Amino acid sequence: MFVDSIKLDQGSGRTGFPVDVVIMAAGKGTRMKSKLPKVLHAIAGRPLLHHVMDTAAALLARNVVVITGHGAEEVEAACARFTGPAADFALQFVRQEPQLGTGHAVQQAVPALADDGVVVVLSGDVPLTQADTLFHLIRACGGDKLALLTLEQTNPAGYGRIVRADNGGADAAVQAIVEHKDASEAQRQITEIYSGIMVVPAARLKTWLARLDNQNAQNEYYLTDIVKFAVADGVAVVGHKITDAVQVAGVNSPVQLGELERAYQLQQAHRLMEEGVRLADPARIDVRGDLLCSHDVSIDVNCIFEGQVNLGEGVRIGANCVIANCVIAAGAVIHPFTHIDGEKLGVTVGAGALIGPFARLRPGAHLGADVHIGNFVEVKNSTLAQGAKANHLAYLGDATVGERVNFGAGAITANYDGANKHRTVIEADVHVGSNCVLVAPVTLGAGGTVGGGSTITKSTAPGALSVARGKQVSIANWARPQKAAKPPQA
Ligand code: UD1
Ligand code: CA
Repeated sequence: MFVDSIKLDQGSGRTGFPVDVVIMAAGKGTRMKSKLPKVLHAIAGRPLLHHVMDTAAALLARNVVVITGHGAEEVEAACARFTGPAADFALQFVRQEPQLGTGHAVQQAVPALADDGVVVVLSGDVPLTQADTLFHLIRACGGDKLALLTLEQTNPAGYGRIVRADNGGADAAVQAIVEHKDASEAQRQITEIYSGIMVVPAARLKTWLARLDNQNAQNEYYLTDIVKFAVADGVAVVGHKITDAVQVAGVNSPVQLGELERAYQLQQAHRLMEEGVRLADPARIDVRGDLLCSHDVSIDVNCIFEGQVNLGEGVRIGANCVIANCVIAAGAVIHPFTHIDGEKLGVTVGAGALIGPFARLRPGAHLGADVHIGNFVEVKNSTLAQGAKANHLAYLGDATVGERVNFGAGAITANYDGANKHRTVIEADVHVGSNCVLVAPVTLGAGGTVGGGSTITKSTAPGALSVARGKQVSIANWARPQKAAKPPQA
């Protein structure tokens, strides 16, 4: 009961009436030249459709109806994370087979729409619309008007044109949307276009959809024809014009996908800089997830952030790093070309730690304060206590490393016996020489030393020096074999 009443409240919080969203996502996307349904192509690592669903969530939508057709099963499966008890809205899928136009698409949603709300019509391939723009449009609709989001386009070819009264004034009443293919030469001169986004009272929408026909240049059922029905029924039609084309730009081709990716990334970059982050070049950063930064963070060029990444105060990220799912504490420095991915287990880097260049931190790497991880060092599922160092060419897997341990160049933990993983424990202040193999399970007692080149298979006592390698043999004045002299040429 309680949960239901919260759901009923959704959508009316900022607007005074319930908001339902219809997302058209049945189109083929031929120009993508891809087997993947168009709306599943990614911006910032996430399907276009997920961006639109996020927008619906930001609108506090009550119901979201996604109209699928081409690749319907794949599209529906890709939206599983928007369902379930924690979902932001009630999600339904409606199939449109065959695809007979945008009006026909929305007709399929009619049985899923209640009469008491307003319907926001969005497209699954228009990912960057801002919720505030839509709130503005919802308020323009006001629960009883038809509100259209429009845009001034210098090259309006292909778009539906906004025809206003008296063929004139920017604020004159909207009379119709005329599709490019149906437009007269005079109408084609109009540069105000319909963005593809509208807000319409649900009950009205239903009656208008029932009146659509396909008597037009494309023999499609045009959603845009409802404008003339609204005018005929004396319902006010308001055009809300915006100037930011990116917000209504659709993806039809890989080129457009690339353009919107850059537009999105530039938005992220500006947001970060406004929060105080110093970016060496706002055009050369990619955030595919959530990047949270404290004060005085600086990020050099060509870095990619994925999943959930938190950077503490004063963290410096060098050029060409890929950093995913990790928490980096204040003052740590990540040198260039470092790869960090915490995946599910996460990675934590302690305050003041120095990582890289060319380091690799894998899931479950938890590094304390002032740890140093140098070039070509890989750390996986291991804990390094404060001040521990592995500066060159090393592997630490399934290891517990104590404070101030020095792990030599070329040393590794042999954690895998071909069937199972085993743990290596290196207690505080141990010094592991270069090129050692620590065969797990094994424990090196505190303060011990392991001679370079040792293969350690048995645990060592605290304070001991352990050497486990072939004894050196030297033969004095050794005469190297000589090559036989070549016979003289005949
Ligand atoms: C539509 C508008 C046009 C507007 C333009 C903005 C109509 C008739 N025209 O043009 O006024 O300027 O958007 O981009 O609405 N879809 C379906 N089922 C269908 C047809 C389309 O789900 O049967 C989906 C598409 O996948 C897409 C969206 O609807 O996500 C818009 O379709 P699209 O063909 O891109 O729009 P246009 O008809 O070109
Ligand atoms: Ca079309």
